[in-house]
Amino acid sequence: MSETTHDSRPDRVVLAYSGGLDTSVAIGWIGERTGAEVIAVAVDVGQGGEDLEVIRQRALDCGAVEAYVADAREEFATEYCMPALKANGLYMDSYPLVSALSRPVIVKHLVAAARQFGAQTVAHGCTGKGNDQVRFEVGITSLAPDLKCLAPVRDLALTRDVAIDYANQHHLPIATTKNNPFSIDANVWGRAIETGFLEDIWNEPTKDVYSYTDDPTYSPLPDEVTLTFDQGVPVAIDGRRVTPLEAVQEMNRRAGAQGVGRIDIVEDRLVGIKSREVYEAPGAMALIAAHKELENVTVEREQARFKKTVGQRWTELVYDGQWFSPLKRSLDAFIEDTQRYVSGEIRMVLHGGRATVTGRRSEQSLYDFNLATYDTGDSFDQSHAKGFIEIYGLTSKLSAAREAAGGQQPEASS
Ligand code: ARG
Repeated sequence: MSETTHDSRPDRVVLAYSGGLDTSVAIGWIGERTGAEVIAVAVDVGQGGEDLEVIRQRALDCGAVEAYVADAREEFATEYCMPALKANGLYMDSYPLVSALSRPVIVKHLVAAARQFGAQTVAHGCTGKGNDQVRFEVGITSLAPDLKCLAPVRDLALTRDVAIDYANQHHLPIATTKNNPFSIDANVWGRAIETGFLEDIWNEPTKDVYSYTDDPTYSPLPDEVTLTFDQGVPVAIDGRRVTPLEAVQEMNRRAGAQGVGRIDIVEDRLVGIKSREVYEAPGAMALIAAHKELENVTVEREQARFKKTVGQRWTELVYDGQWFSPLKRSLDAFIEDTQRYVSGEIRMVLHGGRATVTGRRSEQSLYDFNLATYDTGDSFDQSHAKGFIEIYGLTSKLSAAREAAGGQQPEASS
């Protein structure tokens, strides 16, 4: 290596570290292949599992020059999960964006660590086939265009077999069983499970796939919960104030116990592959169901119809790794504006895999009992309906008359 610059320190690489086999091996592997020092960054987004201090120590034992743990749970819930809730973000009408939401917050912490430790490169453990590589790298470019990206699994030929051999040869403090069948990604918003026998899309998920949810077939007695929202964000559960993180955690526990939020879909990845994914997101799915219904009560019709389209586009952008993009920011502003009156309470029953809304009330409600009722107290003047329909149907009437005059049958009878 020619040391022509006055700074003779080796390059530094910040690595998104999970504590698993691939990223543990990547620490030494990056060092050997590039000569760089590795700083391992573990970000706590509520993935549970191993103690993060143990993970931090493992990074050092695997050869990292620094290891850094960021507790991003509150930040993740407030700044990432809550916007997804306001958007009712369900990719392909089903998947609540679990992994797609966590990548941008991890990216923020990786970039901060790169600045703090003077690194020029950010590395992650993704393969070349998934969405997460895109989310990491587009995110990094968006926040720090000067930083380089490195994916050792994809770019430095760090295959699983190589990783196992490397870990054994170097006596790395990490289990190297070849039979962990699944690739799992988890955070407080949910859990994603893929690969293994699930790749045969006819195979039913087995019980061991799940950990956030209990089997809905054998659920305990129904659990009734009252959720209070303020401008689209849950602020109390059964009258107790909660932070966004606490709201998601408590709903994970209670809806999870009832088997709510299990999802099994074939999904369109950004890279063009269709892949089978199993998710469990009890808190997210229960909160979205409640939030949607409160919107039904409080959001004006035209705004609500348009918001559905905006929410879907927002969701696709987030799925596609465009969290920091200008369009996403603009759509955020629209969605935020729609939440102005989304305040009030939703009562729901959690049971047998379902979160069912059973009541709603709001000071900001647009529901008018006297307009809706068929009983006494009706304030809706039905005599106006006749003229409304006459004018509303006029264009259809005109075009139907033209078809009839031209000897054509109107649509319905042809
Ligand atoms: N398919 C999902 C997504 O792209 C989940 C990805 C989960 N990642 C993983 N390493 N298992 O958002």
